[in-house]
This record gives sequence, structure tokens and C-alpha cells, in this order.
Amino acid sequence: MCGIVGYVGKKQAAPILLDGLAKLEYRGYDSAGISVRDGDKDAVIVKAKGRLSKLADKTDQGRAVPGTCGIGHTRWATHGEPSELNAHPHCSDDMNVIGVHNGIIENFQELRQKLIRHDYQFYSETDTEVAIKLIDYYYKKYAGTPVDAINHALVRIRGSYALAVMFKEYPGEIYVARKDNPMILGLNEDGAFLGSDVPAILKYTRKVYYIGNMELGRLSADGVTFYNLDGDEIQKEITEIEWDAESAEKGGFEHFMMKEIHEQPKAIADTLGMYISNGKIDLSSLAKNGAVDENDKASDPEAILKEIGRVYIVACGSAYHAGMIGKSVIEKLAGIPVEVSLASEFRYCDPKLDKNSVVIVISQSGETADSLAALRLSKERGIPVIAIVNVFGSTIAREADYVMYTAAGPEIAVATTKAYSAQLITLYILAMKTALLKGILDEERAKGLMDELAAIPAGISKILEDKERIQWFAAKYANAKDVFFIGRGIDYAIGLEGSLKMKEISYIHSEAYAAGELKHGTISLIEKGTLVIGIMTQNDLYEKTRSNMVEVKARGAYLFGLTSYGNYNVEDTVDFAVYVPKTDENFVASLAIVPLQLLGYYMAVTKGLDVDKPRNLAKSVTVE
Ligand code: F6R
Repeated sequence: MCGIVGYVGKKQAAPILLDGLAKLEYRGYDSAGISVRDGDKDAVIVKAKGRLSKLADKTDQGRAVPGTCGIGHTRWATHGEPSELNAHPHCSDDMNVIGVHNGIIENFQELRQKLIRHDYQFYSETDTEVAIKLIDYYYKKYAGTPVDAINHALVRIRGSYALAVMFKEYPGEIYVARKDNPMILGLNEDGAFLGSDVPAILKYTRKVYYIGNMELGRLSADGVTFYNLDGDEIQKEITEIEWDAESAEKGGFEHFMMKEIHEQPKAIADTLGMYISNGKIDLSSLAKNGAVDENDKASDPEAILKEIGRVYIVACGSAYHAGMIGKSVIEKLAGIPVEVSLASEFRYCDPKLDKNSVVIVISQSGETADSLAALRLSKERGIPVIAIVNVFGSTIAREADYVMYTAAGPEIAVATTKAYSAQLITLYILAMKTALLKGILDEERAKGLMDELAAIPAGISKILEDKERIQWFAAKYANAKDVFFIGRGIDYAIGLEGSLKMKEISYIHSEAYAAGELKHGTISLIEKGTLVIGIMTQNDLYEKTRSNMVEVKARGAYLFGLTSYGNYNVEDTVDFAVYVPKTDENFVASLAIVPLQLLGYYMAVTKGLDVDKPRNLAKSVTVE
């Protein structure tokens, strides 16, 4: 995710900004920039694509941009490729307003059109440039204060943001605002600081203010003032940060994996926000690569989805597991057959691809060698490729015909959690859109499904509130030698991902089985005390999997049952029951996976293992 820093006070701003941005490097970025104002002079903006060291070199470690007031940004591309033009800060043409932004502005296209009608020009593809020019527009229109102008803009902006803005007519001041994106403000005897995350300012101060949702702040060398959306001044308490620098990077969590598990509600809400607006699924933001020939079959993603008779999903590891869920949901909602293949197998089996089909390649990193090879093979055979990718501008994103980005932000823990969850969301959206285009799904049911999707982030937060129960269970079973996950249909696919999470970080041998297959061989491995995790979220399969649980219990297994609230009779069978909130059965994986992520995590923690960097594994697998 992007990083924001700011400083105004007695010291030179640029070195402080560069230092703060360096502290946020761990969050991932592809370009960076700063803007510094020297007294009443015009501000200077310097940007660089790539490493922060490039920006430091360009500014002679900050010495080339004198001034005591400035803002800075590291960008993780979401709208527009990684480039100097798209990097922040952005400004109005007359440099009246200069700003940086984290988050996603959902209605930026609509606001951009409005501003174009008022003679604004745009140079980047970013939503940020729109936000900054919108503030400039209201500042000039109403000739009020910066707080008035920002408030007017915020009323029009839909989405999430943390904004830091400087106004030409108010040198020595920085204005900030936030909604659903983190930002803190700090103070010391030399001035006022701002950061999107604690590590950015921890070296300078531990005295901070937390700015609330839909609140504004004004920073100057004399301190910080806060305002509400009406422009009235509000009071805030200063807080003392007690974290050390390392735990600050993890937002107070012990590991990145746990932080990322907690970021899932936001990753899902942001991904939904990218593709659903005003109750409609809008795939117009599906990035179309230049390689697509306008006269080619692959020129209109909606036309392709409307006509397709078959879908091939290709991916590795957890992304493959997401694909298995996608298969079930696309088949159920859109009524077309889906084949899911491991990318590492796909090209060696000389796949016979139907002409009237589409290939969906799923990859968090966008760099996985086998997935990339599968993409190239599909294109060679003339099949349009849609990539579901988290890393903007990655190789798979660049080579696919269309890209559906997931808005999970950078994932640092090797074991994926939030990117997998965001992949599921894009697959649900693709399934629903295809069903709508084919006329199989009516608007009313689609609306009901969209409401269910919108409720998933809250459902995950509810599961996380009860995580200590899973922690307790994990501590009890961390010595397990073998663990079996069983389920049918979607529940089997959830089990595969739960099992992978467990084995890759806790080094406990685990297997996921289609529950009905158990008695064709594997049941001979069950002995007294073997942990069996049964996933039973699907109504029509619930009793069948429950009876498979009874079979293994009769052979001594200890049973962990995962189901939805309401299925309380599961407690007649299992030794330990975990419930997830009710949702449409197509989407239940998004909830049911969370207790299993927690289980794998807590087992690894109990065993004292390096959760974020498990042995022998790499975050991005660029070899075959
Ligand atoms: C497991 C995990 C891996 C990845 C796989 C594919 O937690 O993260 O199984 O899912 O290596 O990686 P991407 O999605 O980057 O193609």
C-alpha cells in the first residue's frame, strides 16, 4: 500500500521526508515523490520511478530542495502504471494545490469528467490527480479556506482516502483528511509530522494524534488543529506510542501474516469498490492491454463473457485453490463449465482449448513462471486471457489481454491470506457479471448477492473478534503429526487452502480430502487422536460430510467442525465446533477460510516458527 509522510517546522523538510518514506519501504512501492516549499516561494516537486534511492539521488539526499514544509509519498500503483507521471505528489496546473493520497476514489471517472467540463486538464491516469484538482476547483469556486475547499471535495468523493495537501496561499501549512485509510500526526519541539503509518515518524516523536474518519487536520510549525466536516474546530487527545520500531511496521501485530489476516475486510471492501458501483457490476476498469487488437475477438471483455461457452482457470498454490472455488461459483451462477488446472501441469498436457472460451490466470505476484507460461500458451492458441493479479504492472498483468486487479495492497508474509481473499471476490464478480450478461441471473437476485458480498468484510471482522478460541485450540494441537481436512464441493476447496496454510507455516503434515474419498484408502491413516477438520458449510452436503466425520470418529479421530451459525447439531458429532456468519453459500469460502488461516498461524506461533518466512519458500516463484 502507498505511504504518506509530511513535515512542517524549524528543520529542513526533505531529509525528514526521505527518511520517513524509507521507513515505509516495507509496505511495497513502485515510485516515490516529494514536494517541498521554501517560505513564500513556489513549491518544488521531485519524483522518481523505482527505488527510493533514485529519489534521494535526484534530490542530493534532500539538499537540492530546501524548505521547511513538505509532503512525500511512495506509490503502489492501483490506477495507472508505475511511472514518474503517475507518481505523487500531484498538483493543479498553477501549483495552487499540491497533494498526496492513499486509497481508492471510486467515482474518480465521474469527477474527472466534471472537472474536464470546467477546463481542467489531466496528465496522469490516477484518481489522486482528480482529488487534488477537485480541491483546487472548490477552493477557487467558493474562495473560502483550505478546510472549506477540502470539505466540499470530500462530500463529492466516494471511496477511501488519506490526503495531505499544501496550498500556495498558505505556506508553512499542511492540510490532511482521512476516511478508511490510516494516518497519524505527531509533534515535537521542532515541528509537526504526519505519516500513513507509525514507523514513518517514530524516529522523531512518540507523541501522536489519531485523526478520525471524515476529520481534517491543519499542521503548522506551531502545532496541529482538527476540524469536522462542518469546518468546526474539534479537540483531540495526544497519545504516547509505546511500540518499538519493528512492531510499529507490523501495525502492532506480532507478524505480517496476522496483520494481513486482519487487513482482509479492507482488501475485500476495496476490491468490491473497484468493480461494483451504485449497485452495478462495472468491468469498465478492466485494464485492457495495448496488445489487444480492436478488431480481434479479445477486444471487449463483456462481449467475450456474454458469448463464452467454457472457462479455463490456471494458477498455482493458493491461487489455484481460489480457482477451484471460482469454478464452483461460475458453474452455479453462470451455468458454464469450468476447468481448473495447475499452471505447472497445464502446458505439458497439450491442453485442448475450446475456441469459444476464456482463460483466467490467477496470480498474486503476477510473476509466477508456470502461470506466465500458461498465459503465453493460451494466447498462442488464440484464447483471450483475463489475469487476476495483485501487483500492478507485473509481467502477467502486462501480457494478459485483460487484467482484473485485486486491491489487497502489498502482501509481505510468504503465506498468502488477503490476496487469496481478494482473488475470491474477483471470481465472484466475474461469475455474477457473466451470469447477468447471459441473462441467467436477474437483477433482483444479483442485488441480493451484492448485498451479501458487501456484508463479508463485517463477517470476517466478527470471526476475528473470537480468534482467541482458535488460538487456544491451536496451542492444544500444535504437536499433531498429521491433520486431515475433509469436505465436499466448495468445502473441499476450502480444505485444500486450509491444509496448505497449516503445512507451509507450521510444518505439520496435512492433507485435504474430498470427504467421500476418505474411505477409498486414506481412512487407514486415522488412529486414536488424529485431528480431522470437517468443513460443512453447504446445506445439501452437510449431512453427508457429517456422516464421514462420524466414520473417522469411530476410528478414534478428534474432530474439529467448521460450519455456519445455525447448524448447532454439529456439536452432537464434533469435539470442537467453529461457526462462521451465514452468507450465500456461493460466497462462504470467504468466511470459512479465516478460522483455518488463524489455525495454521497459531499452530506455527505455538511451535515458535518463523511465520512470515517459512523455510524453503519464496514469495514470488519465478522459476519453473
Ligand atoms: C501459499 C502461497 C502460494 C502462492 C503460489 C502462487 O500461501 O502463497 O501457494 O499462492 O506460489 O503465487 P502467485 O499467486 O504469486 O502466482
